[in-house]
Amino acid sequence: MAIPNSFIMQLRQTADIQDVMSSYCSITRAGRNQKCLCPFHSEKTPSLVVYPDTQSFYCFGCGAGGDVITFIMKIENLDYVEAVRFLARRYNMEVPDGGGEDRAYRMRTRIYELNREAARFFHACLLSPAGREGLDYLTGRGLSEKTIRTYGLGFAPQGWDHLIHHLRSKGFTMDEMIAAAVVARSDRSGTARFYDQFRNRVMFPIIDLRGNVIAFGGRVMDDSRPKYLNSADTPVFKKSRNLFSLNLAKNQIEHRRLILAEGYMDVISIYQAGFHNVVATLGTALTEEQARLMAQYADDVVISYDSDAAGQKASERAIPLLSQAGITTRVLAMTGAKDPDEYIKKYGAARFKLLLEGANSPMDFELLKIKKEVDVNTEEGKLAYLRRGISVLARLKNPLEREIYAGKLAEETGVSKAAILDQAGGMARREERTAKKREWNEVQSGRALYQDRINPQKASHLKAAMAEEQVLIYLLRNPDSLEKTGDALSEEDFVTDFNRRVFTLLLQKGQETGAVDLSVLAGELNPEEMGKISGLLAKSREMDNSKQQLLDSIQVLKENREQLKPADLKDGGEEELKRFYEQQKQKKNRR
Ligand code: UTP
Ligand code: MN
Repeated sequence: MAIPNSFIMQLRQTADIQDVMSSYCSITRAGRNQKCLCPFHSEKTPSLVVYPDTQSFYCFGCGAGGDVITFIMKIENLDYVEAVRFLARRYNMEVPDGGGEDRAYRMRTRIYELNREAARFFHACLLSPAGREGLDYLTGRGLSEKTIRTYGLGFAPQGWDHLIHHLRSKGFTMDEMIAAAVVARSDRSGTARFYDQFRNRVMFPIIDLRGNVIAFGGRVMDDSRPKYLNSADTPVFKKSRNLFSLNLAKNQIEHRRLILAEGYMDVISIYQAGFHNVVATLGTALTEEQARLMAQYADDVVISYDSDAAGQKASERAIPLLSQAGITTRVLAMTGAKDPDEYIKKYGAARFKLLLEGANSPMDFELLKIKKEVDVNTEEGKLAYLRRGISVLARLKNPLEREIYAGKLAEETGVSKAAILDQAGGMARREERTAKKREWNEVQSGRALYQDRINPQKASHLKAAMAEEQVLIYLLRNPDSLEKTGDALSEEDFVTDFNRRVFTLLLQKGQETGAVDLSVLAGELNPEEMGKISGLLAKSREMDNSKQQLLDSIQVLKENREQLKPADLKDGGEEELKRFYEQQKQKKNRR
């Protein structure tokens, strides 16, 4: 089952980390190394560094790091073996057969095939006499035949097992149908009964960036509930990570601008009206992951949610998420229709285009929102509007922008622009000071420095743990000294469990393969632990990594062990006991 180390080493030589990462992130030069926006957390300036020499990456912002395999595990959400196979496929390498294909990987492949077959089935039904009602519904909502084909829309017929029969005839098992979440199981009557999840609904296939059908949404054709039914999460689908129609939008993004709508039908209407750069979340509020996904394609997002209170609330929540991902947002100021679908039907595509172009900036949006909440016709309300407006203004970093909105606010309230700017400036400075103070306090309290989730023992054994880390770094950089170090230092010299485990792994893998690098560890450590190791490597670049440093570190660990071994005292004499207590006392005093 295990993949031989020799293959891993070979794969790692072929699958260059820059080459692999560049299909997920936009990498730019930074001296000898490369950097890019970290895909694993939200940021506006790049803090992820790619190191070609060690074929590793490390994000100074969130601590993600590792080798090329860790990267694929994290970004594609795969386990180790799947990630190796994924890379091998990409570079046309044959994975040595260590007992057949991995089970989880095989299941995923089957689910992709099954979903595609189900989508074909639904589509064929829609165009058959049995799908008449579905087709009438969709065309009744203004969708053209071309749009229906572009989106691969379908129809799930009335009845309990049409899809089951079809999939069975294509060789899929009941387990696979359940795993794909297109079939459900009921045990109510005492015996297991299986039935189609989607019945009597028009179907919207959800397709990922690689063109795989990963899930479905299904809508009823009347007023019954639930209006939309969405696939549950499966091994190939996570709602929070995907966006409807991104597969179509990604090829048609002009000026790196995306439109974000609320629902399936809005997206399809907007697309049909000629704006192809439109996506939607899948029945949930926007997530951080989705915001980052959008940031890979867009700098600029027009939020086109419903005009009702719920839609506005959702816009408010989406703005900070998008902004954290480095995206500038504007909010569609739509009146006269409840959602973009209805708007386009009522007023046409040309007018929707105007709406898009005039979409409000978040600042307009905020001011408008405040104005709705207070009564500006009263003195009191006007004052509240002014006060809250200024605090929003204070958050604007761009002086020009602050200037413009101060002018607006001045005009609306009759207070001078200079006074408003003055107030906002003062408030901004106060906030900055508080933030600085908070940061300083954190550094002072040592929290920022010594907290280490991966190696929690480090905080209470700082000196030894740092020496251990030095040893590990040296070994990773100089695998040829593995054997000698192994002779000089043993596992028992290690104080913290995590470092000991890594040390043991290095020795063991070194013996098996004759060499050692990050990719050998990737099979044994989880991505978080890999991040920790890559962080050590990355930070060691500015430090002394000489042989002398290694020897000193070994010395520290040896001495530490001598001092800390009460077990040795069992048969020690009076003299030794005294010495031990002396040492302990000294140690205490030193602290
Ligand atoms: P809406 O209720 O606004 O529906 O839900 P809609 O998009 O305008 O759909 P039509 O025009 O009535 O056909 C917006 C989105 O919320 C999710 C769906 O993704 C929908 O597109 N939703 C809504 C559900 O997942 N389940 C529901 O029962 C309702
Ligand atoms: Mn609608």
